[in-house]
Amino acid sequence: MKTNQINKKISITVHLTPGNIDEMGLKDKNLIVIDVLRASTTIATALQNGAKEIMPVGTIENAVKISGSLFGGVTLRAGERNSKMIEGFNLGNSPKEFTEDVVKAKSIIFFTTNGTTAIGKGKHAKNLVVAGFVNLSKVVEFFINLQEDIVILCAANENVFCIEDAVCAGRIINKMAGSAGIELVLDDTGVACATLDKSFGKSILKMLKSTEHGKYLTEIGFADDLKICAALDSVQVIPMLVGNIIKLPKDIN
Ligand code: MLT
Repeated sequence: MKTNQINKKISITVHLTPGNIDEMGLKDKNLIVIDVLRASTTIATALQNGAKEIMPVGTIENAVKISGSLFGGVTLRAGERNSKMIEGFNLGNSPKEFTEDVVKAKSIIFFTTNGTTAIGKGKHAKNLVVAGFVNLSKVVEFFINLQEDIVILCAANENVFCIEDAVCAGRIINKMAGSAGIELVLDDTGVACATLDKSFGKSILKMLKSTEHGKYLTEIGFADDLKICAALDSVQVIPMLVGNIIKLPKDIN
């Protein structure tokens, strides 16, 4: 039997690093920012555990400056340099630290080497959503409902390609491609990411363990974080940047 289903065409453009991306080039785009290890995972975890909001900043100096003008007790400074906690900060960048006890109702000023830089590039986007494996299905659901073109920005590592972010981009693409009523139009980078996901993405944890940053995190004592970052759909939130603040849609007026 013939069906008359009309497929909505959605184009997905993927950038493997933020290096050559200009903020104005992302203006009014629907943007997904991915930093699997670990900023995306940490942001999603913090919001799931009741953090009020996350303020991503581009430099450690800014984190210190902003927090100085905010109320102690309700504001936490979090983030990393070389993946380790920054002196004088309350938290590092391990999702394990962002428990309900610690973050509930708190505003978190957040600096990470690559994740918050990539998010900053998207400050003029129409919709900016932070994605990792942990909240992948929620993000896909959001963009399937939106039915508009998408740009995916991988945070990468100091503007060098990272397998884990590319595989996550590929998983988002493959999951969207499987949705009824949608026809994806991909650039070559998107096709490559989707293909990478079909090979390296078979075991997310195994893939993370084999990456440069995964090996480094393991070496410095964060092996458990890889398991947390690999836990597909373990966190049911859509972190969205509004103005300069990341919140959940329910908290956006
Ligand atoms: C980053 O944004 O560079 C990372 O999240 C680094 C890390 O693993 O802490």
